Amino acid sequence: MLEAYLLDWLNLFLRFVHIITGIAWIGASFYFNWLENKIYRVGQRDGIAGSLWAIHGGGYYYLEKYQKYPESQPIKLHWFKWEAYSTWISGFLLLITIYYLNAETYLLYSDATIVVTPAHGVLLSVLGLVSGWLIYDGLCRSSLVRYPFYFLLVILALVPIFAYLYELVFSPKAVFIQLGAMIGTIMVANVFFVIMPVQRKLVQACDEKTPVSSELGLKGYQRSRHNNYFTLPVLLTMISGHYPHLYSTDYNYLVITVVFIVSVLVRHIFNLRGEGKPFGRTIIIAVVFLIAIIVAVMPKQNVYNPDIKVGFEQVREVLDKHCVSCHSANPTQAGFAKPPLGFMVHTDKLAKQGKKLIYQNTVMSRSMPLGNLTKMTDEERGVIRIWYESTLSN
Ligand code: HEC
Repeated sequence: MLEAYLLDWLNLFLRFVHIITGIAWIGASFYFNWLENKIYRVGQRDGIAGSLWAIHGGGYYYLEKYQKYPESQPIKLHWFKWEAYSTWISGFLLLITIYYLNAETYLLYSDATIVVTPAHGVLLSVLGLVSGWLIYDGLCRSSLVRYPFYFLLVILALVPIFAYLYELVFSPKAVFIQLGAMIGTIMVANVFFVIMPVQRKLVQACDEKTPVSSELGLKGYQRSRHNNYFTLPVLLTMISGHYPHLYSTDYNYLVITVVFIVSVLVRHIFNLRGEGKPFGRTIIIAVVFLIAIIVAVMPKQNVYNPDIKVGFEQVREVLDKHCVSCHSANPTQAGFAKPPLGFMVHTDKLAKQGKKLIYQNTVMSRSMPLGNLTKMTDEERGVIRIWYESTLSN
């Protein structure tokens, strides 16, 4: 019990750090991409690629971008890397504390097509993080990277493949987090393995006054631009856990792909707008994809049949068997010091109050019982369904 309680604090701490560092990283990334889009490039002095004026927080700012490097090394040069590293480190620790240490509950799924041991589940997850980067990096080194549109298509084609494979083993919610973690890892690896070395070379060239090839800067810029497009899909996967209607469909791998497409398009709209290019067509494409996904995952109509009756005792039995071990004032399930999200069903009054949430989570999304640990059957879900739908028709 004490262990579960302390883990809850650790979880809160890590999540808070992860969010703060993530905001710092993404904030900086958005800001520098915005600069790239907005700097004024016409009629600059020699060696200057562009400049811009801005006003913020009650002051004027003036900023210049150099084509290569300044005449002398600045005394203080600010780097942006720890935001990225600490976001990944805190994120990976979160993955360990939530998904790996409780792999059976959160990572795996007793209804999954392939049932594996927790250790194998963790191994598969880590392998995904590594292989995602290796594949992406390989593609970046191939000539495909010169054709951004086809490059994007290949990356997008990999999303449903990985999602489908993980869906065979992982819980639906974990599939989203896994894909988010894979792309997040690619983003950080871009910073660590490509962008930072490029910048170190640039600084060295500035010190030694040696020429730099334009390819060098381009390489860093390209990865930074990829990261920019990856940001929104990653953020979406990170909040997807709160939305069972997203992750609990029969074709999650398609949902996740379309969600990625829409968020990449949204990012693209902002970039086009920043560059002063037309973006109307991109908005239309994004909206079409969005509507398609909203329609595709729409829950089926109620199939309530007034002739079939279910008494509350039957509902009570199902809840006692499958839910109260976690959702009661004093959970008996190992690892739970308090009822998750404060949601409790151990008294009839509480169960009736929470009927809509019970229905949504067991019938519509089937996200509960967690990982279907207690192996709730379709008949039992049917009991909840008939009970809930009958209360609506009264
Ligand atoms: C092994 C523990 C466990 C079992 C068993 C379990 N749940 Fe949960 N439940 C959780 C956890 C953990 C969460 C929080 C998930 C999250 O943070 O997204 C949760 C969340 C919920 C929520 C969301 C509450 C909200 O405010 O959004 C509902 C509703 C719910 N469970 C209902 C049920 C029902 C009904 C059952 C039985 C059929 C059940 N749960 C069985 C652990 C469990």
